[in-house]
Amino acid sequence: MFAVAIDGPAGAGKSTISRAAAKEIGFLYVDTGALYRAVAYDILKNRIDPTDQKAVCERLSAIEVHFGYEGKEQQVYLNKENVTDKLRTPQVSAAASLVSAIGPVRQFLFSQQQDIARENNIIMDGRDIGTVVLPNAQVKIYLTATTEERARRRFDELWKKGESVSFQAVLSDLIKRDENDMNRKVSPLRQAPDAIVVDTSKMDLAQSVQAILTIIKKKIGQGTK
Ligand code: DC
Repeated sequence: MFAVAIDGPAGAGKSTISRAAAKEIGFLYVDTGALYRAVAYDILKNRIDPTDQKAVCERLSAIEVHFGYEGKEQQVYLNKENVTDKLRTPQVSAAASLVSAIGPVRQFLFSQQQDIARENNIIMDGRDIGTVVLPNAQVKIYLTATTEERARRRFDELWKKGESVSFQAVLSDLIKRDENDMNRKVSPLRQAPDAIVVDTSKMDLAQSVQAILTIIKKKIGQGTK
């Protein structure tokens, strides 16, 4: 199986770019952030404080989270309910960043990320894919963009969805998430030593997808030696 690991900070365009690239080469796209978001969604729904590590860990035994696919579109199930459409709110984003810093939460979600890579050609995005989940991925990409540009994209996305947020609020949420994701003790966001950096600050979507595809196709062309 061929695995492409794409890591990088929030709002770098990982999911949009990865999904489009996967479609182009017929790979399965796996968004691992959705698993952390599903746990966060459950925690908020049950009125548990996402910074209360003990309470979050205790809740894990009552949660079952798994991926499913409708065609090539990833769905996420929480205790058999399809929660895919409920996971992309600012509240869930902030809580996902907090619960993902808890070691047992990461262990809880670890094996299914590896299992899906064993059975499919994939593009998988997250924070620790090239460093921890798939250290042997044939291609590793660290996708990034400036903080301002990432905030601007997130702001546009939220406005298009009809959410009236201020740019300042989006920017400060993003800075907070970056800080959580990069400085946590377990599996912090890091560029893998063998990852290729792609900075999309000055690229549009088509150019970003092309940049990723060029890297992947080159590697496929070389075989896996
Ligand atoms: O990629 P995303 O924004 O949907 O991720 C939501 C949160 O989940 C993010 O703040 C960090 C965490 N996450 C993680 O720790 N490891 C991953 N592989 C994916 C996401």
